[in-house]
Amino acid sequence: MISCEGVGLQYSRGDGPEILRDLTFAVPAGGFRWLLGPSGAGKSSLLRLIYLAVRPTHGRLNVLGTEVGTARRRHLPRLRRRIGVVYQDFRLLAHLSVFDNVALPLRIGGRPEGQVRADVGEMLRWVGLSHKAAARPAELSGGEQQRVAIARAVVPRPSLLLADEPTGNLDGVQAERLMQLLRELNRLGTTVVVATHNDALVARHPGRTLRLAHGRLVADAEAGRA
Ligand SMILES: Nc1ncnc2c1ncn2[C@@H]1O[C@H](COP(=O)(O)OP(=O)(O)OP(=O)(O)O)[C@@H](O)[C@H]1O
Ligand SMILES: [Mg+2]
Repeated sequence: MISCEGVGLQYSRGDGPEILRDLTFAVPAGGFRWLLGPSGAGKSSLLRLIYLAVRPTHGRLNVLGTEVGTARRRHLPRLRRRIGVVYQDFRLLAHLSVFDNVALPLRIGGRPEGQVRADVGEMLRWVGLSHKAAARPAELSGGEQQRVAIARAVVPRPSLLLADEPTGNLDGVQAERLMQLLRELNRLGTTVVVATHNDALVARHPGRTLRLAHGRLVADAEAGRA
């Protein structure tokens, strides 16, 4: 599902400092991983590699069976559509309504409009935002925007779900609800990687953990038990 062998990353076309160094790990299909480490450790950068926004400067990275370093560029969009991403900064489209933001990946995937309406409606109910379907992102609170971002990532039922600090703007009850959703998706077979600083959440939901420090992998083990 995800396999990293000696992966390194420098931004600025290999000119800058090494942000990630010599990462070797694998996440099997259907696996769950916490991705932990202090601010600046490289969590978002690692997720960017996995969702193909940047390519590794060193090593080999295989995502969903595709060798990312050597894959042809034209093959990447199809691979990309199998990956759901909750971005740390949400990245909602400001000119689209909540409904249309969540519907976007389904429409890009060519789903019939009837199914789009049903799936988006169900997802918005799930995140408690049915009453905001017509609102623009700017009219929402931070936590509401985050829930839209979660809905958009999950609604196409991706094979791989990457969530970057998905509870940063949620209260405790909502964060718990999100964890139920992620666990349920994981139980149904979705591979899930969650980067977070939310130690309390990790303690309540022990799981295998990738821990980064200064761009290096310092642990890959069962962890998080309080
Ligand atoms: N586009 C970029 N160009 C150059 N350097 C970058 C870029 N994005 C991130 N960095 C650097 O890479 C390092 C790791 O950043 P990253 O965002 O991956 O950390 P993080 O673990 O996600 O932190 P946080 O917990 O604060 O989200 C930081 O030193 C950051 O300055
Ligand atoms: Mg980050």
